[in-house]
Amino acid sequence: SANMKLLMLAGDGIGPEVMGEVKRVISWMDKRRHVAFDLDEDLVGGACYDAHGVAVTDATMDKAMSVDAVLLGAVGGPKWDDVARAHRPEAGLLRLRKDMDLFANLRPAVVFDALIDASTLKPEVVRGLDIMIVRELTAGVYFGQPRGTDVRDGVRYGFDTQIYSEPEIDRVARVAFDLAKKRGNKVTSVEKANVMESGVFWREVVSNVHREAYGDVALNHMYADNCAMQLVRWPGQFDVIVTDNLFGDILSDCAAMLTGSLGMLPSASLGEADASGFRRAMYEPVHGSAPDIAGQNKANPLATVLSFSMMLRYSFDMGADADLIDAAVKNVLAAGLRTADIMSDGATLVSTEGMGRALIGELDKMAA
Ligand code: NAD
Ligand code: IPM
Ligand code: MN
Repeated sequence: SANMKLLMLAGDGIGPEVMGEVKRVISWMDKRRHVAFDLDEDLVGGACYDAHGVAVTDATMDKAMSVDAVLLGAVGGPKWDDVARAHRPEAGLLRLRKDMDLFANLRPAVVFDALIDASTLKPEVVRGLDIMIVRELTAGVYFGQPRGTDVRDGVRYGFDTQIYSEPEIDRVARVAFDLAKKRGNKVTSVEKANVMESGVFWREVVSNVHREAYGDVALNHMYADNCAMQLVRWPGQFDVIVTDNLFGDILSDCAAMLTGSLGMLPSASLGEADASGFRRAMYEPVHGSAPDIAGQNKANPLATVLSFSMMLRYSFDMGADADLIDAAVKNVLAAGLRTADIMSDGATLVSTEGMGRALIGELDKMAA
């Protein structure tokens, strides 16, 4: 359709650099496939703080709530390390997730054949890998109250609260089971039921959902520490992993290295579908603003390009166009092009822009 509304929030550090390559893909789609997005751009994170004194403005929130999909680059950086928590760049991202109620964060870790050598793990461990991490994104210790610092009996404390309601666990578990049915039909639910009350509860609710509605999907439970270990020992055992906000954050960075680089991992953050089938959504790479390489035209744009492809798939039902972009990524990698983070012997080193241009060249070839 001609009026797909898209809000782009490039953010900080490498955010604008990797987003620039998505823009290249968007204008290609416009020109070559006559797919026109109604594109709006705005500030978020440190860039927004510098301009407006907050990490995301109410006006931007209003836009985010009304568009069909949001595409986000990355936020944060040392420049804002001393800003009060409520206005830190990360607070902008957390507000977007919370206010849009994007409770289901899908983080697929897929190993491209061409990148098997880029992983720090042995080829036979990572070949053919396809794991979907479903991270709960709007609750848990990220948002639980009370939190803060205090002085008790003259001793200073810092504290946060891990808390999950039954509906919060129930709905994310359903997303995981539904995804598993379309994949390998297996869900691993991850918590620390051995030490945490909320972990016992998590396990109970996931088991109930399983028993009531998804008995035909294989379910197993795993402690988070063991899961971190199993991800590098034998990642092939996993199909869908469902876990809480904090464990999901950590385990997805871990899973990223199976694919060769954090610069390869896309994500989709989805809300609940309304009566018409519409669901709020934000698409973002799993990585951050990478201050160590920002401004150097070195960042890998593929995580963000693949996030855009997830957007086409999940928000716009444009599977064929998403397939095209995924294939273009696969082909440029097969042709030996590498940004620095996935560089290996005999490959060709390219910049952020070089990778983007190569993608367009590949798209041109495929569409010819
Ligand atoms: P990071 O993900 O920014 O970087 C970790 C390492 O991975 C760095 O060495 C970086 O150079 C590398 N890396 C990340 N993305 C890459 C890419 N696309 N191409 C090549 N290399 C890449 O994590 P960090 O250094 O812990 O955090 C930096 C800042 O980013 C912090 O302010 C943090 O809060 C923020 N952050 C934001 C998001 C987000 O916006 N979604 C996610 C994670 C971290
Ligand atoms: C991520 C990031 C964020 C998180 C930060 C920047 C708030 O690490 O998206 O993985 O912890 O969720
Ligand atoms: Mn993270």
